[in-house]
Amino acid sequence: MTQSSRSVVSRRAVSIADLRAIAQRRVPRAVFDYLDGGAEGEVTLRENCRVYDDVTFRPRHAVAFADCNLRARVLGFDLALPFLLAPVGYSRLMHPVGEVGAARAAGDAGTAYILSTISGHKLESVKAASTGPVFYQLYLMGGRGAAEAVIERARLAGFSALVVTIDTAVAGIRERDYRNGMRELITGSVFEKLPFLPQILARPGWLTRFLLDGGLPALPNVVPPGEGPMPLIDVAAALAKSTLTWSDLTWIRKVWPGPIVIKGVLTGDDARRAVDEGATAISVSNHGGRQLDCVPSSLRALPEIVKAVHRQAEILMDGGIRRGTDIVKALCLGARAVLCGRAYAYGLAAAGEAGVNRAIEILRTDLDRTMRLLGCASVAELNRSYVNVPLNWDARESVS
Ligand SMILES: Cc1cc2nc3c(=O)[nH]c(=O)nc-3n(C[C@H](O)[C@H](O)[C@H](O)COP(=O)(O)O)c2cc1C
Repeated sequence: MTQSSRSVVSRRAVSIADLRAIAQRRVPRAVFDYLDGGAEGEVTLRENCRVYDDVTFRPRHAVAFADCNLRARVLGFDLALPFLLAPVGYSRLMHPVGEVGAARAAGDAGTAYILSTISGHKLESVKAASTGPVFYQLYLMGGRGAAEAVIERARLAGFSALVVTIDTAVAGIRERDYRNGMRELITGSVFEKLPFLPQILARPGWLTRFLLDGGLPALPNVVPPGEGPMPLIDVAAALAKSTLTWSDLTWIRKVWPGPIVIKGVLTGDDARRAVDEGATAISVSNHGGRQLDCVPSSLRALPEIVKAVHRQAEILMDGGIRRGTDIVKALCLGARAVLCGRAYAYGLAAAGEAGVNRAIEILRTDLDRTMRLLGCASVAELNRSYVNVPLNWDARESVS
């Protein structure tokens, strides 16, 4: 990325929506839709973003303070920002710097990066790139042997936490991927690929970078014993063969002595179960609307989970975060910090690492402005008194 294209991204991208629009112009439709899309009718995907409109602010005006404290304490780390970068699979398809660039951008901003199992870069390179904490997100693809090997590598490399995703019994059906021939493009023969090639040829910049990067990477962190890195074959089939259950937590805790985050919790019952199984933190998440469609938005699910396990585990959430106001609302409802997925991945697809830097900067300045307009000097002081929540939101919380 040249100096001039870096500044073009900075000038043109005022919001995350602007980065999304640039990404759409720069990567093939199959790659953009993989990033942008959700499962089935995309009901939850839409609701994840829309639901923030239901919560309005109660500002305290005529309040002045010199510094606005955006720091959040997550798993013992003092982060400069109350948001982390979520695990996003296939990041290297969006831009060759992929997971390495995103991790470096997170570290430069003083926050944490979570590396997906479905990474095109080795976990050791990702850890080495970042000056901040890096967590490893675990799928059991390749079986327990592959998982134990990667957990050991992550420990040796200095990863600080394991993020265990529990909402992926099978891969959700993302209809856009089927229509765009994502599967054929990744695993098909030349003849199967042919009908889908025009969208690739329409993005020569992306194609050149992709070919110079060596084409489709294998999964260097999924290495079943006695085998090489798992090729990027049908990840969906590999996931379906390796469904994670609560009983797996017992051996995971034995092989991973550090903190564990359970990601994908949507009910108070699962939150309590996660605490019982030894989770240090929970991420309230519906996988960005990419797994079971028609589940509640993450923000809507958050109060029930806060009520169920508040003070027993740190509560994170992710889903639909596109603005600083979204982050502030989630913190007011009880999240300690949030994870951003697409918000930074649009930046990655738009302009590589410079795009991720820009996404983080947009959210950081949004946050600072929102806090000042709200009259709250520190994100640690945010609570429900700063927001109006629809009355019926509390009904479910009183059920359990
Ligand atoms: C393209 C893409 C790939 C993802 N890959 C993973 C993954 O490998 N593991 C995982 O736990 N979550 C994955 N997620 C879910 C994110 O970690 C996060 O839960 C979600 O993106 C939050 O919603 P948001 O994109 O609206 O911020 C992925 C999300 C996207 C958009």
